[in-house]
Amino acid sequence: MPEFCHVTVIDREGVQTELDVPTDVSMNLMEVLKGEGYPILATCGGMALCGTCHALVLEGLDELPPRTEEELDMLDTLPETFDNSRLCCQIKAPALPEKITVQLAAIED
Ligand code: FES
Repeated sequence: MPEFCHVTVIDREGVQTELDVPTDVSMNLMEVLKGEGYPILATCGGMALCGTCHALVLEGLDELPPRTEEELDMLDTLPETFDNSRLCCQIKAPALPEKITVQLAAIED
C-alpha cells in the first residue's frame, strides 16, 4: 500500500485540484473530500444509500476494489451513471492506489 494517494479532484465547476491523501487512515474518500470542503452532502453518512458522493473515476479505476452489491444497487437508482461511476464513501483510504483522478458527478435536481 502506498503511503499517500495522489488524488486529482475535478469539482462540479470543472476546477481541478490535487490532494495527497494518507492511506493509513480509517476514512473513506467521501470523508476526505468533504473534509477538504467539497460540497458533498453525504446525507446517508457513507452507507451507500444517498448517492450524493457519486464521482467518475477518470484515472486509477482498475486499481480500485470492485464495486460491492450495495454500491451497485445505489448507483442503479441514480438517473445517470457510467462504467466508471463510483460512490466515494465506498472507497476506503487504505484501498487507494498511488494515483487517482475523480470527477464529482453532477447533482440531479
Ligand atoms: S455518502 Fe451517501 S452514498 Fe456515499
